[in-house]
Amino acid sequence: MSLFARSVCTLWMFILLSSWVNYTVAMKALVRVTNDLGILDLTVSCNIDKNPHILTPAAYYEWNYSSEDSEFGREPFTCNFQWEGAHHSFDMYVSIRDQDCQRCLWFIRQDAPCRYVKNGRFACYPWNT
Ligand SMILES: *[C@@H]1O[C@H](CO)[C@@H](O)[C@H](O)[C@H]1NC(C)=O
Repeated sequence: MSLFARSVCTLWMFILLSSWVNYTVAMKALVRVTNDLGILDLTVSCNIDKNPHILTPAAYYEWNYSSEDSEFGREPFTCNFQWEGAHHSFDMYVSIRDQDCQRCLWFIRQDAPCRYVKNGRFACYPWNT
Protein backbone atom coordinates (compact mmCIF):
# COMPACT_ATOMS: atom_id res chain seq x y z
CA MET A 1 0.00 0.00 0.00
CA SER A 2 1.21 3.52 -0.73
CA LEU A 3 1.85 5.82 2.16
CA PHE A 4 -1.14 7.92 1.10
CA ALA A 5 -3.50 4.97 0.99
CA ARG A 6 -2.25 3.81 4.35
CA SER A 7 -2.84 7.28 5.86
CA VAL A 8 -6.38 7.41 4.47
CA CYS A 9 -7.03 3.94 5.81
CA THR A 10 -5.70 4.86 9.25
CA LEU A 11 -7.81 8.03 9.25
CA TRP A 12 -10.95 6.03 8.44
CA MET A 13 -10.22 3.56 11.21
CA PHE A 14 -9.79 6.45 13.60
CA ILE A 15 -13.08 8.10 12.54
CA LEU A 16 -14.99 4.83 12.82
CA LEU A 17 -13.48 4.04 16.19
CA SER A 18 -14.10 7.48 17.67
CA SER A 19 -17.75 7.54 16.53
CA TRP A 20 -18.24 4.10 18.05
CA VAL A 21 -16.68 5.25 21.31
CA ASN A 22 -18.91 8.35 21.38
CA TYR A 23 -21.94 6.22 20.71
CA THR A 24 -21.29 3.83 23.55
CA VAL A 25 -20.35 6.59 25.98
CA ALA A 26 -23.59 8.58 25.47
CA MET A 27 -25.69 7.98 28.56
CA LYS A 28 -29.39 8.66 28.76
CA ALA A 29 -31.48 8.40 31.88
CA LEU A 30 -34.52 9.75 33.59
CA VAL A 31 -33.30 11.34 36.80
CA ARG A 32 -35.88 11.98 39.50
CA VAL A 33 -35.32 13.86 42.75
CA THR A 34 -37.83 13.29 45.55
CA ASN A 35 -38.00 15.32 48.75
CA ASP A 36 -37.56 12.71 51.49
CA LEU A 37 -36.64 15.20 54.23
CA GLY A 38 -39.76 14.56 56.27
CA ILE A 39 -41.59 17.81 56.96
CA LEU A 40 -39.27 20.36 55.31
CA ASP A 41 -39.47 21.98 51.89
CA LEU A 42 -36.50 21.33 49.61
CA THR A 43 -35.09 23.78 47.06
CA VAL A 44 -33.25 22.13 44.15
CA SER A 45 -31.06 24.12 41.71
CA CYS A 46 -29.12 22.26 39.03
CA ASN A 47 -26.49 23.18 36.47
CA ILE A 48 -28.50 21.72 33.55
CA ASP A 49 -31.51 23.79 34.45
CA LYS A 50 -32.38 27.47 34.52
CA ASN A 51 -34.81 27.67 37.41
CA PRO A 52 -34.73 26.32 40.94
CA HIS A 53 -37.52 23.97 42.00
CA ILE A 54 -39.21 24.03 45.37
CA LEU A 55 -40.35 20.59 46.43
CA THR A 56 -42.81 20.11 49.27
CA PRO A 57 -42.46 16.89 51.31
CA ALA A 58 -42.73 13.80 49.04
CA ALA A 59 -42.91 15.94 45.88
CA TYR A 60 -40.48 15.24 43.04
CA TYR A 61 -38.99 16.80 39.93
CA GLU A 62 -37.40 14.94 37.02
CA TRP A 63 -35.15 15.46 34.02
CA ASN A 64 -34.38 13.43 30.94
CA TYR A 65 -30.63 13.55 31.15
CA SER A 66 -28.28 12.79 28.28
CA SER A 67 -24.53 13.11 28.62
CA GLU A 68 -24.39 13.87 24.87
CA ASP A 69 -27.01 16.63 24.76
CA SER A 70 -25.11 19.73 23.70
CA GLU A 71 -27.36 22.25 25.42
CA PHE A 72 -28.41 20.60 28.68
CA GLY A 73 -26.38 17.44 28.92
CA ARG A 74 -22.99 17.50 30.47
CA GLU A 75 -21.17 15.80 33.22
CA PRO A 76 -21.21 16.47 36.00
CA PHE A 77 -24.95 17.07 36.34
CA THR A 78 -24.76 18.77 39.70
CA CYS A 79 -27.57 20.00 41.93
CA ASN A 80 -27.59 22.18 44.99
CA PHE A 81 -30.00 21.23 47.74
CA GLN A 82 -31.19 23.70 50.31
CA TRP A 83 -33.50 23.41 53.24
CA GLU A 84 -33.85 25.11 56.61
CA GLY A 85 -30.40 25.09 58.17
CA ALA A 86 -28.61 23.09 55.47
CA HIS A 87 -26.98 23.43 52.07
CA HIS A 88 -25.41 20.60 50.06
CA SER A 89 -24.44 19.72 46.50
CA PHE A 90 -24.37 16.37 44.77
CA ASP A 91 -23.65 14.93 41.29
CA MET A 92 -26.91 13.36 40.10
CA TYR A 93 -25.49 11.30 37.27
CA VAL A 94 -22.02 9.80 37.15
CA SER A 95 -21.58 7.24 34.33
CA ILE A 96 -19.51 4.76 36.31
CA ARG A 97 -21.79 4.84 39.36
CA ASP A 98 -25.16 5.10 37.62
CA GLN A 99 -24.90 3.04 34.43
CA ASP A 100 -27.25 0.46 36.01
CA CYS A 101 -30.21 2.88 36.07
CA GLN A 102 -32.34 4.08 33.19
CA ARG A 103 -34.67 5.58 35.79
CA CYS A 104 -32.47 6.96 38.52
CA LEU A 105 -34.69 7.67 41.50
CA TRP A 106 -32.98 9.82 44.11
CA PHE A 107 -34.43 10.44 47.55
CA ILE A 108 -33.01 13.46 49.30
CA ARG A 109 -32.73 12.75 53.01
CA GLN A 110 -31.31 14.98 55.72
CA ASP A 111 -28.23 12.78 56.15
CA ALA A 112 -27.61 11.73 52.52
CA PRO A 113 -28.86 11.46 48.95
CA CYS A 114 -30.01 7.87 48.36
CA ARG A 115 -30.80 6.11 45.10
CA TYR A 116 -33.40 3.39 44.91
CA VAL A 117 -31.71 0.16 43.83
CA LYS A 118 -34.34 -2.60 43.95
CA ASN A 119 -36.41 -4.73 46.29
CA GLY A 120 -36.93 -1.79 48.65
CA ARG A 121 -33.19 -1.18 48.94
CA PHE A 122 -31.37 2.12 48.62
CA ALA A 123 -27.76 3.09 48.04
CA CYS A 124 -26.72 6.25 49.88
CA TYR A 125 -23.73 8.43 49.04
CA PRO A 126 -21.85 11.29 50.67
CA TRP A 127 -22.64 14.85 49.57
CA ASN A 128 -20.07 16.65 47.39
CA THR A 129 -20.08 19.43 49.98
C1 LIG B 1 -38.79 12.02 29.44
O1 LIG B 1 -38.90 11.23 28.27
C2 LIG B 1 -40.02 10.35 28.29
C3 LIG B 1 -39.96 9.49 27.05
O2 LIG B 1 -39.71 10.26 25.92
C4 LIG B 1 -41.30 11.18 28.40
O3 LIG B 1 -42.41 10.33 28.44
C5 LIG B 1 -41.26 12.03 29.65
O4 LIG B 1 -42.40 12.87 29.71
C6 LIG B 1 -40.00 12.88 29.67
N1 LIG B 1 -39.92 13.56 30.96
C7 LIG B 1 -39.41 14.77 31.11
C8 LIG B 1 -39.37 15.28 32.49
O5 LIG B 1 -38.96 15.44 30.20
